[in-house]
Amino acid sequence: MMSSLLQGRKILLGVSSGIAIYKAVDLLSKLRKAKAELRVILTPEAEKMVSGLVFSAVGNCPVYSDIFKVQEGFIPHTDLSRWAELFAIAPATANTIAKLNAGIADNLLLATALAYPDKPKLLVPTMNTRMFENPVTTENIAKLGSQGWSVVAPEEGHLACGDVGKGRYPENELIIEEMAYLLSEKPLAGMKALVTAGPTRERIDNVRYITNRSSGKMGYAIARALRYMGAEVVLVTGPTALRAPAGVEVVKVQSATEMAGAVDLYSKVSKVIVMAAAVADYKPVKPSEHKIKKSPGEFTLRLERTRDILATLERKEDQIVIGFCAEDRELEKKAREKLEKKSLDAIVCNDISRSDIAFGSEENEVFVYFKDGSSEHLDKADKELIASQLVKRVILRLLSNS
Ligand code: CTP
Repeated sequence: MMSSLLQGRKILLGVSSGIAIYKAVDLLSKLRKAKAELRVILTPEAEKMVSGLVFSAVGNCPVYSDIFKVQEGFIPHTDLSRWAELFAIAPATANTIAKLNAGIADNLLLATALAYPDKPKLLVPTMNTRMFENPVTTENIAKLGSQGWSVVAPEEGHLACGDVGKGRYPENELIIEEMAYLLSEKPLAGMKALVTAGPTRERIDNVRYITNRSSGKMGYAIARALRYMGAEVVLVTGPTALRAPAGVEVVKVQSATEMAGAVDLYSKVSKVIVMAAAVADYKPVKPSEHKIKKSPGEFTLRLERTRDILATLERKEDQIVIGFCAEDRELEKKAREKLEKKSLDAIVCNDISRSDIAFGSEENEVFVYFKDGSSEHLDKADKELIASQLVKRVILRLLSNS
């Protein structure tokens, strides 16, 4: 996931000696898969826990820990701080955080942080709950926050010492999302966007429902891509198995009717609206309060149309509205008919005759048709990249013309 967005970006990973250090090895592995350019700094204590060899092999990258190892004019703390586009410390112990805040530079990681100029920097505090909740640490983190450090907050859960509470190392996917956010340009800063995603569920009785195969991945990726570029995003989502994107307001709904209610509310204040949800076109006329019991012979379920949310949207003049469609033949003709009928600025068309893309898949390839008659083809790529292309080549273009 989000692999393409970190490709070639220079990420310096600082690792201090939290018990969660093994998760930093996995972070490095994920960053390598994302094709980031990597370098690692270990504190001397971290090196006692996991050898630099492990980081070097997993990240396929140089690993540094000795502040005095000046070689062929390479001065580790200043050269590494100049080299990096992003400096992340994960895990960041209470001790490292306190020293960072005090400007102490008694190891390579701290000296590099002190020499690090005004570029993106990220802390992942990880420690025992009492250490984390101690006002000394809370204040240190808050002060570092005001000095340009972004923070991925620790999670609640079981800790190595047996306690349960806040302090656990967060999911690496969240850290990587934050990295992508920090490294992105922000042409959409301050703009409000609404995205719908996923399937809807239409109740038949209290245990059964009608739904479809939409995974929600495309809509979630678009919400993330918009947020990376600075937009304030609301994601209205039907039931999915996906983790909520960081920094996005997520509104969970079940049925098409609930989705319509949420869209009506948030669309009023949104400049850009992207309707990627696969909304059910029909719902049971009369859902049963109790579980329907089987009986001999056929069973008929009466369905009625749901409201077409997109077609009935109360549009404001300067809004940009983008719809999706899923077609298995006459793609352009069908897509253009919907573009016209639903008064859209652009429509993104999935070719569902192919099994290698769209529904449930990690990848997609789409055609985008604009109301001015032009079109764009986005080559097959992972949905994160397609989403970022959609924002750059479709939404930014529409915004610049509006
Ligand atoms: N949509 C909606 N409300 C509905 C149905 C669809 O808002 N009740 C939106 C979807 O989010 C999507 C677009 O309308 O942006 C899809 O239009 P639709 O005409 O349903 O196209 P298809 O999904 O391709 O369906 P069909 O096969 O019925 O043409």
